[in-house]
Amino acid sequence: MDKMRIRGGKALSGTVEVSGAKNAALPILISALLTDEKCKYSRVPRLEDIRTTLKLLSHMGVIVEDRLDQSEVVLSTPVTAQTEAPYDLVRTMRASVLVLGPLLARFGYAKVSLPGGCAIGARPINFHLTGLEKLGAKIELENGYVIATAKKLKGNRVGFEFPSVGATENLMMAAVLAEGETVLENCAREPEIIDLACALRGMGAEISGEGSEVIHIQGKSSLHGCNHEVMGDRIEAGTFLAAAFGTGGSVRVMGLRSEALESVLVKFEDSGALITRGDRFIELRSQGRPKAVDFTTLPYPGFPTDMQAQFMAVLTVADGASLISETIFENRYMHVPELIRLGANISIRGNTAVIRGTEKLKGAPLMATDLRASASLVLGGLFAQGETEVSRIYHLDRGYDRMEEKLRLLGAQIERVKA
Ligand code: EPZ
Repeated sequence: MDKMRIRGGKALSGTVEVSGAKNAALPILISALLTDEKCKYSRVPRLEDIRTTLKLLSHMGVIVEDRLDQSEVVLSTPVTAQTEAPYDLVRTMRASVLVLGPLLARFGYAKVSLPGGCAIGARPINFHLTGLEKLGAKIELENGYVIATAKKLKGNRVGFEFPSVGATENLMMAAVLAEGETVLENCAREPEIIDLACALRGMGAEISGEGSEVIHIQGKSSLHGCNHEVMGDRIEAGTFLAAAFGTGGSVRVMGLRSEALESVLVKFEDSGALITRGDRFIELRSQGRPKAVDFTTLPYPGFPTDMQAQFMAVLTVADGASLISETIFENRYMHVPELIRLGANISIRGNTAVIRGTEKLKGAPLMATDLRASASLVLGGLFAQGETEVSRIYHLDRGYDRMEEKLRLLGAQIERVKA
């Protein structure tokens, strides 16, 4: 297993372009199941989760033209496609459950393995299933699989108990081919939802309200192919800005709209950074050591849970004590014991973490446990004096496209050590 070797203590500076957003690309690639025509996607990030998605889709009979070396993918789904998503693929990537909606909508049948939990939580899919039942699907659970059938989905009003990103996406992809109108209420408002809606509209879907709590969808009898460029990855951008701030540097990240990350930018400013919001870039300039700040993770437009671990790494070197509340996932502090190995002072009470900043982090061998935790450990290594090695970085490769190359562009001393 590869490791990342980091020599910390150097201020980062320079400009870096983010890749396409993982959490937009995954549902958008899966939405190609909704038509037999060619769907061409650009700015697709080169990630393990993308490769897993392409493997799943081709297993199902989707014709995959993989041009990931140019960040492009072309997909088309013949009417003979298989409507099953097997356990060994779904368990490696939970987002595979997003095939449920499009398979039901197009083929009237789907057999998808229950995803099971992951390092950060149980990750149930009850909101997905109750929503699909509201559109007329029959849902059965058998031997760890969801078996969903529907002669023809019918539009309906679906209110989500919680603004779940995945449930909103699954229901959007089911409703676009259902009979009549669907109104989704209490929807997730994340920018990735808006990008999926744009891709669906590019296929001829009639959809409005995305990015607000209520999404209206007028079902069509069929959809055509599309040509869609994936939005920039706001979490990757936030990770590089955190790297700049924790090392006392100045960095410009290109390729995204700053509104997508506004709640994090405000926190960087509260902590003493100088932020410039450009049309398609964000710049962070450090003005001395970060100051302690508190934050709570919330659904968009609140502070994103996917930036919690990375911002915590910055707070381990801040001046003062900070308070973090993680309200989205029940076990998203796996990075804490590893950051403590660097000399961080963090204590956890339930879903709250208290971080007392120090100026003396020291490099140490660390082990990654999940995607954003591994990013947090790389940041810790950049902030610490001396050498840090992060093992099990296959977690990192799920969601970051050539992270070490981009960090080296910004002056970091980091290299991947092949196992
Ligand atoms: C998406 O996961 C993202 N993944 C996650 O990013 C992100 O952390 C999360 O949204 C929140 O923003 C992708 O987009 C592929 P949810 P998702 O449904 O859809 C509970 C990363 O690091 N819930 O909004 O699974 C759930 O357990 C990943 O890139 C139910 O109880 O998130 C969680 O506590 C990690 N029942 C909360 O809701 C359901 O049916 C939010 O989950 C669905 C969710």
